[in-house]
Amino acid sequence: MAKNPVRVLVTGAAGQIGYALVPMIARGVMLGSDQPVILHLLDIPPAAESLNGVKMELVDAAFPLLKGVVATTDVVEACTGVNIAVMVGGFPRKEGMERKDVMSKNVSIYKSQAFALEKHAAANCKVLVVANPANTNALILKEFAPSIPEKNISCLTRLDHNRALGQISERLNVQVSDVKNVIIWGNHSSSQYPDVNHATVTTPAGEKPVRELVADDAWLNSEFIATVQQRGAAIIKARKLSSALSAASAACDHIRDWVLGTPEGIWVSMGVYSDGSYNVPAGLIYSFPVTTQNGEWKIVQGLGIDEFSRKKLDLTAEELSEEKALAYSCLT
Ligand code: NAD
Ligand code: LMR
Repeated sequence: MAKNPVRVLVTGAAGQIGYALVPMIARGVMLGSDQPVILHLLDIPPAAESLNGVKMELVDAAFPLLKGVVATTDVVEACTGVNIAVMVGGFPRKEGMERKDVMSKNVSIYKSQAFALEKHAAANCKVLVVANPANTNALILKEFAPSIPEKNISCLTRLDHNRALGQISERLNVQVSDVKNVIIWGNHSSSQYPDVNHATVTTPAGEKPVRELVADDAWLNSEFIATVQQRGAAIIKARKLSSALSAASAACDHIRDWVLGTPEGIWVSMGVYSDGSYNVPAGLIYSFPVTTQNGEWKIVQGLGIDEFSRKKLDLTAEELSEEKALAYSCLT
């Protein structure tokens, strides 16, 4: 029997991530090739014409799974009845800007959209914040939508996770699908800590630790970390635009794993509300290794954290605490 359509909201849908993301959702990349979807697309009035163009292209693409498109500049209409909300709307960082520079513009958007989601989305709506500063926007959304369970609000660090897998795969000249269990700890910013201490590669001789195969701790502890931390800036420098296709693909990975579950023995990175695990201060949206089952994520527990890692986990937590304070100062 055909499944009922799932309503998926994409805010900022006339932007460049939106343009890459909506066809992926309509093709089943996010929710599966047997899951019909109705897309809710939100943008602001200056982008209304362009948003309508995106809707026209979605119609023209004749996606079999796409059962309807609501393209609107009305936040209430956009949020009504949605089961999944992918929050991309906001102002991206330009060359030479730090992420903090986009803070004041973006947190106030997330405060007002929190109200609309809380009131009009379907019960148990899952929310993914992509727009930067992603962790802090998600935290503001959580705090101003207190009736949405905190387990339903997350931010995107899967792009960083995938970047880390990509760097290891390039370095070892192995398939990216054979690399697993890297971790992104903390903020989706240059303070994040890409950790390979528990990562492995599937080889003909079995699972091997990444550290053993790379056999170059100096590279893993410096250049690798810096490359992943700075990858967003490197893409902006190269494209004069921030990452879009990889961000859209990572957003699909994030929701797909959250809804459909992670495979046995594999964890992924998600920005989620800290419960104090790994001595990360509770009350921040912080990226952790998680497994998912039945639509719920669980932080992977019991991983060893050495002194080098501890410092890095703490540093990115400090930045998030500062961002939280700055966000509140922007809102008053
Ligand atoms: P973009 O400027 O191309 O698109 C953003 C869209 O949001 C625009 O169409 C704009 O009109 C719209 N918008 C602005 N205010 C809005 C509002 N109040 N409601 C609805 N829509 C609104 O930017 P982009 O390249 O698509 O990037 C979007 C965001 O994603 C940026 O904040 C960017 O920094 C962030 N980003 C995050 C990651 C991640 O991994 N977390 C990766 C890449 C980009
Ligand atoms: C990215 O990681 O590519 C985005 O968050 C863009 C940015 O500002 O770094």
